[in-house]
Amino acid sequence: MKSKIEDLNKKLKEAHLGGGQARIDKQHDKKKLTARERVMYLLDEGSFEEIGALVTHRTKSFGMDKQLFYGDGVVTGYGTVNGRLIYIFAQDFTVFGGSLSETHAEKICKVMDLAVKVGAPIIGLNDSGGARIQEGVRSLGGYADIFFRNVQASGVIPQLSAIMGPCAGGAVYSPAMTDFTLMVENSSYMFVTGPNVVKTVTNENVTSEELGGASTHSTKSGVAHKTSINDIECLEDLKSLLSYLPQNNKETATHLPYELGDEFREQLSDIIPDNANKPYDMHQVINGIIDADSFYEIHKNHAENILVGFARLGGRSIGIVANQPMFLAGVLDVNSAKKAARFVRFCDAFNIPLLVLEDVPGFLPGTDQEWNGIIVHGAKLLYAFSEATVPRVTVITRKAYGGAYDVMNSKHIGSDMNFAWPSAEIAVMGAKGAAEIIFKKEINKADDKEAKWKEKEAEYAELFANPYSAAERGFVDEVILPKDTRRKLIKAFSMLENKVVTRPDRKHGNIPL
Ligand code: HXC
Repeated sequence: MKSKIEDLNKKLKEAHLGGGQARIDKQHDKKKLTARERVMYLLDEGSFEEIGALVTHRTKSFGMDKQLFYGDGVVTGYGTVNGRLIYIFAQDFTVFGGSLSETHAEKICKVMDLAVKVGAPIIGLNDSGGARIQEGVRSLGGYADIFFRNVQASGVIPQLSAIMGPCAGGAVYSPAMTDFTLMVENSSYMFVTGPNVVKTVTNENVTSEELGGASTHSTKSGVAHKTSINDIECLEDLKSLLSYLPQNNKETATHLPYELGDEFREQLSDIIPDNANKPYDMHQVINGIIDADSFYEIHKNHAENILVGFARLGGRSIGIVANQPMFLAGVLDVNSAKKAARFVRFCDAFNIPLLVLEDVPGFLPGTDQEWNGIIVHGAKLLYAFSEATVPRVTVITRKAYGGAYDVMNSKHIGSDMNFAWPSAEIAVMGAKGAAEIIFKKEINKADDKEAKWKEKEAEYAELFANPYSAAERGFVDEVILPKDTRRKLIKAFSMLENKVVTRPDRKHGNIPL
């Protein structure tokens, strides 16, 4: 027995060394942690249980039968993060560049299957040179096995991805189908085809970082939901994100203990400028409402005209969607509609109530928007809100104009409680534009056109540049004082806690894609 135990320990020691000390040192030289170090940092101390540490690949060609590394380039298993069960796989770049073989894929599929059966989040730490080139189609099949599982698990358990090194080729589609993708700045990249292929096909000269680095994907493409300056911060970000999420779609997120006593927030009264065309930072409104320092922003640098993220309100985890007047006056456009729609659908899938803060002058006009499909992309947000059955509450802080009024979680599309501040303006359009259209003849006939226009603008503003016309019809449930907003929202979400909505039976809807 003694020699057998020694034999096992030797094998496990070897497995823990991955591709060997020299390659581990190389990884450290690049300021990257190894797969095992990442797992150990992310999980609660002593909680990690490894599955498949002694798996090896089955390839014989290209001398591969002489290059066997235990674990085959991926560390898989389960453990806890802040006491909550999670499943994890971490690709080990020290073994064949973390490339994905048939067995490497089987290990990932095994933990994904367990995560779905048990109902716990799955976290993937990606650091891989892509398909194991020596394995050909067996590697491609392995990827497809993972993709299939990503889709089956979607909306059932939270799936989180961190990109902590290369992620190229078709490999990008697994993280893309998970719920959130975090990237480490300057050491990770994602692209379908790399700079060399780009050069050959389109004659563009571009670096890996420009083409698919964290900065590119968190600003331009929106592929990355968050970026972090190094591995440690990325793992901390994953822990924070998890804290807002439930284990699965049958549960709700942990409700933190909360004591009444901090409801009135006087500072909310001073945010909206007197001039309706002046911007203000919607973060001030968010922070004035939520529990201290609890906003976890998603897609911070992408489509900045809308803010989305998780927060806590009276200890409850909520999702926030808010127009941001600081950017493009808070209009809805292609990117902001897509960003918000995906977030709304995530919250709805995982029983996270939605708070909408609205100050929207409408949709962004122009050929760029129309030719890029604002019709279909704007419809995504309308669709996402309309299908959501979680508790939904809106606060109109200022503008709610045109079609955007309908889209931004109006009563008409199923919002449960709609509040407006006295500064709200709920109308088809701004008073100036409205006066120009409907009083055109009268203005043109007047001796002093400018004065007439101003007079008609004031007339229209008097009627619609306020929340009362909407309140009279019940489209707004209550006009509230800004300082009362936090209290009203805590009570509204508590009142809505047991909300149940049944929908007609169907296979699935057909969201405009
Ligand atoms: C097998 C691989 C590998 C791969 C890297 N390695 N990628 N082995 N299959 N795909 C091995 C290297 O041989 C090397 O082994 C070790 O990993 C580290 O690689 P280096 O090149 O030394 O590292 P670095 O200079 O940091 O460059 C990393 C890299 C580069 C940029 C990822 O290795 C690279 O370009 N690899 C190929 C990427 C690729 O074309 N993959 C296929 C994409 S297509 P030793 O023994 O020296 O340590 C794809 C399709 C998926 O993935 C489709 C899914 C549907």
